[in-house]
Amino acid sequence: MPHKAIIFVLNGPNLNLLGTREPEIYGRDTLDDIARRLDDQAQTLGVEIDFRQSNHEGHLIDWLHEAQAVGAKAVLLNAAGFTHSSIAIHDAIKAISVPVVEVHLSEPKTREAFRHISYVGMAAKLCFAGHGAKSYELALDAAARF
Ligand code: DQA
Repeated sequence: MPHKAIIFVLNGPNLNLLGTREPEIYGRDTLDDIARRLDDQAQTLGVEIDFRQSNHEGHLIDWLHEAQAVGAKAVLLNAAGFTHSSIAIHDAIKAISVPVVEVHLSEPKTREAFRHISYVGMAAKLCFAGHGAKSYELALDAAARF
């Protein structure tokens, strides 16, 4: 049987605290809840996901490079706070040919002004934001069709 296409799902800082972190903004689902649902969805879509979280910018950059090295079909990236600060993550997205889909639980563009700039969005192919945990599911649906 041919290998299934692999889609990396990369999560940045503080997302390990989902469930208890500002639930009025981010909801009550934990990152594990999201990972489990995406796994089920991936099975239905006939793709495989590799779901990771790190609080460290360099890990996210290394994982973007790894997505390219292993020939991933796409990357879903919730870079969290690094979205609004990291030119290095922007550069990493531009440095790979794997399409990156920006994901956010909240809608940063309707929040504080410092969240209105997205260095990830300037390099990503698509963005799903403001749908809570469902943003990930919408992004996976789109990425599986690339
Ligand atoms: C977030 C939005 C970012 O502005 C914030 O820094 C996060 C989470 C989201 O998923 O809504 O940590 O990426």
